[in-house]
Amino acid sequence: MPEGMHVDYDGLIPNNVGLAQDLRVRKALETWHPGYIDWWKEMGPVGFQESLVYLRTAIGVDPTGWAVFDYVKMPEYKWGILLAPKVEGRKIPFGRHKGEPAWQEVPGEYRAMLRRLIVVQGDTEPASVEQQRHLGATAPSLYDLRNLFQVNVEEGRHLWQMVYLLQKYFGADGREEAEALLERRSGDADRPRILGAFNEATPDWLSFFMFTFFTDRDGKMQLEALAQSGFDPLSRSCRFMLTEEAHHMFVGATGVQRILQRTVSAMNEAGIEDPYDVEAVRRLGVIDLPVIQKKLNLHFSLTLDLFGNEISTNAANAFEAGLKGRYREDKLTDDHQLHNATYPVLRCVSGRIVEEQVPALSALNMRLRDDYVREVEAGVARWNQVIAKGNINFKLKLPHVAFNRAIGEFSTIHVDPDGNILDDAAWAARKSEFLPSSDDGAYIADLMKPMFERGRYAGWIAPPRVGIDNKPGDFEYVRIV
Ligand SMILES: [Fe+2]
Ligand SMILES: [Fe+2]
Repeated sequence: MPEGMHVDYDGLIPNNVGLAQDLRVRKALETWHPGYIDWWKEMGPVGFQESLVYLRTAIGVDPTGWAVFDYVKMPEYKWGILLAPKVEGRKIPFGRHKGEPAWQEVPGEYRAMLRRLIVVQGDTEPASVEQQRHLGATAPSLYDLRNLFQVNVEEGRHLWQMVYLLQKYFGADGREEAEALLERRSGDADRPRILGAFNEATPDWLSFFMFTFFTDRDGKMQLEALAQSGFDPLSRSCRFMLTEEAHHMFVGATGVQRILQRTVSAMNEAGIEDPYDVEAVRRLGVIDLPVIQKKLNLHFSLTLDLFGNEISTNAANAFEAGLKGRYREDKLTDDHQLHNATYPVLRCVSGRIVEEQVPALSALNMRLRDDYVREVEAGVARWNQVIAKGNINFKLKLPHVAFNRAIGEFSTIHVDPDGNILDDAAWAARKSEFLPSSDDGAYIADLMKPMFERGRYAGWIAPPRVGIDNKPGDFEYVRIV
């Protein structure tokens, strides 16, 4: 049996990393545990902590049967530490150490860089739970309520996973970082979460679905890049986290799809053909297509900022050190060192958007972002099929990558979603055409009334095609207490 196949499920912390024999790390984690539970109760989902939620819990690392479903009270969820099984003889796949045996201990020369990568990834996990904590009160169904909580508990588990790496491999400063991960707060002026998009509000369920579609998918890309790491415990950690991440993106993709479905059928039934007749559509109590486009513009642009600067020496350093690779590095067929390669990057040069060839090593963030954009484009195309089937003349579209950016090449200019440069006055005058206005927010907020009856759905969203774990339509996904 390869190392890491056996899962110890009996102790306080289910794990396949041999905690029972590793007294030091087990103690460190058991010491951290109460603070985590306090954080969950203070900053996790508001309400529902006593309710029984039909949740998936990871109990193994065998791809064919790694999870069980059962009713659980969230604070009693088994947040475990599960690494993908060890690949014997694994080599560092890229960078200046390419071909050397993968590191099982922290390489001293890269300690600070590695710790930073783990902390930044770890910080996003509790941040998203904090951002989503108020949504339970307005869930459009028990099915959606359960999906929200599933995402939340798994993001909590991802935090555990990163904290394990800090506790196990980084000694005293790892412990300090593990504490700090429980101390920062999304949106807090004094001690915010590390990355900008994780300090934004998630005010309503359309935002939640957009977030899980766009921002969880950035998480996926980052995990994929870290899964290539020459530091084997990080690689194994991220590989297992990716199995859970798929469901988060499913929640987002199908959530928006169901909203579109409901809007389109309501328009069809009422005989409304013009998608821009927002007033008429809103009278039906559904979400108009133009505001869905605006939310898409917002969440796409916020998420692009998470990829960092297009031209980045940090990214180059992490690659050369063998710590963070490219998307599916192991499937790429170049030399995995990139010393002579170039990559095309859109840049802002004297106020204009131009494409330039730059050294590929410095363009790794850009490359990951391009891989990301290709994936979200495919998802948006699937959304558009729903609109087309309803014969409505409207197409959702990703905005230009320079639109509404706070980080990188385009943070100093304004462009419209088509990429046309706007001066400050034009941007201010037209911003509410591109991004949700306060009126849009108020309209959506008004729709957000909970629907907690079994098998029923709020009027602005269609039911899902199939239930979770193949449960029937009226299944009680949450027993609310
Ligand atoms: Fe996560
Ligand atoms: Fe996620």
